Amino acid sequence: MNLKSKIAIVTGASSGIGAEFSKDLMKRGTTVYGLARSVDKLNTIKKELGEQFIPVQMDIADSTKLEKWVSDAFSFHHTPDILINNAGLGYFANVDALKVEEWNTMLNVNLSGIFYLTRLIVPLMKKNDNTCHIINISSIAGLMGSPQISAYNATKYGLRGFSDALFKELRYDGIKVSCFFPGSIATSFFDSIDEVEQHPNMMNASDVSKTLVHVLETPDNFLINEIIMRPLNPKNPN
Ligand SMILES: NC(=O)c1ccc[n+]([C@@H]2O[C@H](COP(=O)([O-])OP(=O)(O)OC[C@H]3O[C@@H](n4cnc5c(N)ncnc54)[C@H](OP(=O)(O)O)[C@@H]3O)[C@@H](O)[C@H]2O)c1
Repeated sequence: MNLKSKIAIVTGASSGIGAEFSKDLMKRGTTVYGLARSVDKLNTIKKELGEQFIPVQMDIADSTKLEKWVSDAFSFHHTPDILINNAGLGYFANVDALKVEEWNTMLNVNLSGIFYLTRLIVPLMKKNDNTCHIINISSIAGLMGSPQISAYNATKYGLRGFSDALFKELRYDGIKVSCFFPGSIATSFFDSIDEVEQHPNMMNASDVSKTLVHVLETPDNFLINEIIMRPLNPKNPN
């Protein structure tokens, strides 16, 4: 895909890799609808990036609000080419200490929210003459379980299943679906999580974003449907 003059939706655009994806897409001439709850952070990003970044205050777990926004923002004459389902969060604790509301929040955001938005965008993409691309941000936690992150694991494994099924369902409609499984990335994701020991040598958001751009820019009949990325040496002996 040539990213110039394309339209993208990036969820979780207010920080971390979502903000970096938005910057890299805009550098290549893509208009980005950036979704997140923190409107102040989105507005700060808009000041930095310019008019092609459109901030949208949104809780992706709110299916009614999403429906209204999608029907106001898009039509069959103004259709998104790219959907990056990136918004996500983690509450980490032993299973007998994790609160029910924490479990529900993770499922609602990391899994249901992705379904709510994707089901609204797919009909628009089916009408789009361009090849479109949906990229779902899972995690290495979508491929291997670890103590204290069982609920987060469940959402990220679930996203892998959703993505694999969608890739097979949508390929003949000219819609690519890719799922990313990153290891640890230096973002604010871990700020409120005491239970997980942070590695001193995490990946950079900018390197993850370069990979996203590469995957998007592949030729129309070339699909990278899954991609695992890790820090080579998370312990950094130097
Ligand atoms: N950092 C890592 O090591 C790592 C590794 C593998 C996978 N991931 C995944 O990468 C994705 C991005 O994480 P990050 O590392 O960039 O962390 P981050 O800096 O904490 O970003 C998370 C983003 O999600 C948004 N968000 C959270 N809940 C939301 C909701 N209900 N509705 C809309 N937006 C919401 C946040 O914005 P608001 O708070 O403004 O809503 C924020 O923009 C997540 O899915 C995470 O699971 C991260």
